[in-house]
Amino acid sequence: MNETTVPSPEKPAEPPDQRRKTGQKAGVELLIHFHIVAKNARLYETNNTLFQEQVRALFDFLDVFFKGQQEASFEVRHSSLFFNGVRLKFGLASYPIFKFIFEEFRIRDIGALSFRPGLTPEELGRFIAAFGKKGKSAELPFDRLTADLDAAGVENVRLQKVLDAETFSSLHRDTARIFFLSIVHLKEAFERDQKDEKLTLNTTRRLMQSIFNHLVDNESFMVGLTNLKNFDDYTLNHSVNVCVLALALGRRLGLSHGELVDLGLAAFFHDLGKLDTPIEILNKPAALNDEERGIIERHPHQGAEKLLHLREFSRLPLRAIHVALEHHIKEDLSGYPRYFKRRDINFFSKIVKIVDFFDAVTSKRVYRADAFSRAQALSLMLENSGTEFNSLILKSFVHLMGVFPIGTFVALDTGELGIVFDANPETRFLLRPKVKLITDAEGKRIDGDIVDLAEADPQTGAFPRTIVKTLDPATYGIEVTDYFLAEAQ
Ligand SMILES: [Fe+2]
Ligand SMILES: [Fe+2]
Repeated sequence: MNETTVPSPEKPAEPPDQRRKTGQKAGVELLIHFHIVAKNARLYETNNTLFQEQVRALFDFLDVFFKGQQEASFEVRHSSLFFNGVRLKFGLASYPIFKFIFEEFRIRDIGALSFRPGLTPEELGRFIAAFGKKGKSAELPFDRLTADLDAAGVENVRLQKVLDAETFSSLHRDTARIFFLSIVHLKEAFERDQKDEKLTLNTTRRLMQSIFNHLVDNESFMVGLTNLKNFDDYTLNHSVNVCVLALALGRRLGLSHGELVDLGLAAFFHDLGKLDTPIEILNKPAALNDEERGIIERHPHQGAEKLLHLREFSRLPLRAIHVALEHHIKEDLSGYPRYFKRRDINFFSKIVKIVDFFDAVTSKRVYRADAFSRAQALSLMLENSGTEFNSLILKSFVHLMGVFPIGTFVALDTGELGIVFDANPETRFLLRPKVKLITDAEGKRIDGDIVDLAEADPQTGAFPRTIVKTLDPATYGIEVTDYFLAEAQ
């Protein structure tokens, strides 16, 4: 175990950013230990030597951790996992562990679990034994578990019951599942590519079909998911966001179902060429030199070439190759690569160009601490309408996102603050989306209603609430995603 990752009382107080990182690292390490033990609690008797060693490793980790901290507490809130108040980010490697923990919490109705100093190895063993025990179907799982822990004299592991509101509505849950499945599928596709194995485009096509279905049934939630930049692998998360946004935009543009599946596929693989770009260049915090820029600018060619060499090439729409090659070419033919005629640029490439730019500038990156807000990104793009972006497609995209895109943090003329949850379909109500209230007029945090700003007072005909400005959620310490996902529950 690496003790340097665990905060100790001798160390000077850490700056908040460092604390976040420590919380993240320690949280994930503890989760890994707990995952092993909880999983094996079902397989082994408690006196099994291997199992006892694993419990001991968990205990040792906690023991060191308690030298600097009061407790080690996991909490599920708004479908995120928090460790001592820090939201844990999960990468693809740790995703199965997160899934396991979420599931273990869910089946036992656990909302929070904390380990406290004073815990002994024996007590931890008794906790794990009770945790791993299967209850009878007639018992309520949380009540059964807490009764067992009482009976076993476990005092230094505390549980809190989940609130009823923490259960996902089934449509939203399925939509979120498709979204994450897409990320996992893309990762597999990338790995196959690197091992020079066959890409299975059939599965990718089926996935596009599912994303399409969810866009039809649940567009604003699906589009809202592109706002959750939760995965630590930027290119994967970005590719799925681009795919979802391209499909949503393609629908608005009236593309046929078959074309949309092709568009989704093309968008999904638009940055395939980045697999060959060294990660140090992709994530370089400082400005790129000419040579590095040259390497980045090779990714369209490399992507197109990879697609051309696919063994399942014949099943791939030709337009996917166009998109890989052309998604950085601007409307005035600047950008890269440089030798195209305007009429040669595929319509799909122009769609992907827009959603690609939007997703990139609204994401935080190592080299750019502050991402653009969605509204800022749209207004920047409108300034470059016709020169960088195709103006007709951009207009449609702005309409799709609304003047106040889903996820925008806004101030109302009543003094209340809120988050845009849904656009109103009528053009005359572009400035009047549906807003979830998160503070009252005095600025006190509330779990407010979702109000439709287009609804006028029936007596007077006046609108009770109007947006006066957009705000940066970061300055208010607001995590938009949390509110968004909470509503899905
Ligand atoms: Fe790209
Ligand atoms: Fe991209």
